Amino acid sequence: GEPLPVESRPFASYGSALHVALPRPLSAGQLLTLEIDYEAGEGPGVCWLTPEQTAGKQKPYMYTQGQAVLNRSFFPGFDTPSVKCTYSATVQVPEGFTAVMSATSWEKQDNNTFVFKMSQPIPSYLIALAVGDIVSAEVGPRSSVWAEPCLIEAAKKEYDGVIEEFLAVGEKLFGPYVWGRYDILFMPPSFPFGGMENPCLTFVTPCLLAGDRSLVDVIIHEISHSWFGNLVTNATWGEFWLNEGFTMYAQRRISTEVYGLAYTCLEAATGRALLRQHMDNTGEDHPLNKLRVIIEPGLWGVNPDDTYNETPYEKGYCFVSYLAHLVGEQSKFDAFLQAYVNRFKFQSITADDALGFFLEYFPELKEKGVDSIPGFEFDRWLNAPGWPPFLPDLSPGEQLMKPADELAELWAADGLNMEAIEAVDITVWRTYQLVYFLDQVLQKSPLPEGNVERLSKMYPKISKAQNAELRLRWCQIVLKNNLEAEYSKVKDFLHSQGKQKYTLPLYRAMWAGSESARALAMETFSATAPQLHVNVQNYVKKILGLEVVE
Ligand code: BES
Ligand code: ZN
Repeated sequence: GEPLPVESRPFASYGSALHVALPRPLSAGQLLTLEIDYEAGEGPGVCWLTPEQTAGKQKPYMYTQGQAVLNRSFFPGFDTPSVKCTYSATVQVPEGFTAVMSATSWEKQDNNTFVFKMSQPIPSYLIALAVGDIVSAEVGPRSSVWAEPCLIEAAKKEYDGVIEEFLAVGEKLFGPYVWGRYDILFMPPSFPFGGMENPCLTFVTPCLLAGDRSLVDVIIHEISHSWFGNLVTNATWGEFWLNEGFTMYAQRRISTEVYGLAYTCLEAATGRALLRQHMDNTGEDHPLNKLRVIIEPGLWGVNPDDTYNETPYEKGYCFVSYLAHLVGEQSKFDAFLQAYVNRFKFQSITADDALGFFLEYFPELKEKGVDSIPGFEFDRWLNAPGWPPFLPDLSPGEQLMKPADELAELWAADGLNMEAIEAVDITVWRTYQLVYFLDQVLQKSPLPEGNVERLSKMYPKISKAQNAELRLRWCQIVLKNNLEAEYSKVKDFLHSQGKQKYTLPLYRAMWAGSESARALAMETFSATAPQLHVNVQNYVKKILGLEVVE
């Protein structure tokens, strides 16, 4: 119990270093118990919500979001994905509140005290806590949904009986699910992500409650992190694609097994469209458009939080697909993925580790020098910015994409061929088919004068949609075509939720638009800023040219 001198030293805009002077030198392997007394409050990792910011509007709520480098404001520690440890926590909350954590065992004691233990080693960014008026309902043999009481029925209905199949397929493909339970917590609307793979307890946006399971790919994605990311972890945020690219690949493998290749290719095509939009926005040569980015607290490095963009996801997916293409047979590549997880589980690795293992696992490919085929060098994949040199074949999705492509063509024409348009019945289309169609329309926008108004009237299923993915695309189309009559939809959507991937594209579109679109941006931001996550607030401020205080 010796008190030790501590000092806080500058580190980066996103945190400072805590220096603790030890009384005497320690030798390697010697056990040291360090007790740190601290208070956490205003940091960006710990979010405090007022009752108005919840679904029920009755009680306040708090949650933490660690990824990428925010947990340093939740607790002092080695906040790097290269270090893994177990943890336990005792959390006392006021009467009428429940605490949940990303832990393998939970126990409620007297005095509203909850005791949690995570018995597997995890990186710091996966430690997560939420406290609120929340209840649970069972949806599978090892799964429950958690939500505020007013949402619990909808949450149960959305995922009752479907989670187990995804877990079982994941286990078949990638090996044992080591985390015990897989539960889902529906967050308040301002949660900035679609989903966050906190082990044992994925946090998700309430936008997933579409009523028809159409956004379940997010759940499959977070489940896939149970192997890629949570078991095998990127050692640095500069190689975030190891988490997200492998996870996108795993997600689409599970999706293919459950929903078939055609549907999965369609979903992947919408991912490719997002990558196209991202590269058009940033410029292909932007340093963030490399799979390996340089993280440095200085001028030329990037903030780890900025790596959350489409490149690690969709270019990463293309790279993993390219590896699978080199192997040829799907079953052989599946076996590799399982061996990869088994080889590196509970470790943090670099891309060199992953690719070295790939070549070791397939000596005949190593022999052939597949890592240095001109134009497709592994080194180029990692270090060159820009569009992926290899794109997986999505033609099995053609049967679903072609009608959407053709319909988008029709709507982009100068004189509308209403007969041909009316012959297409979109009421039978799945959500992702509509999403794909809208992405095509957006790419062709602005459409000839008057076409978007007619499209809006013709398809209330789209222009009056409640589904968040459809609302996002519709709002983008409204802005790109400067359809002032429907600006209120943009405003309503931005008031209703605060997901980063919905919020930023809309502010970018408004800022690139007319005077009135810019005014809409300013008005909407001043009304909604307090309810946005601080990171999202700061990104919006950058788009709008407002000052960001770090
Ligand atoms: N781990 C991410 C979310 C994240 C990334 C949080 C970086 C903080 C920093 C999560 O697994 C994710 O990728 N979510 C996606 C889901 C989608 C790809 C299906 C999202 O939120 O959009
Ligand atoms: Zn992810």
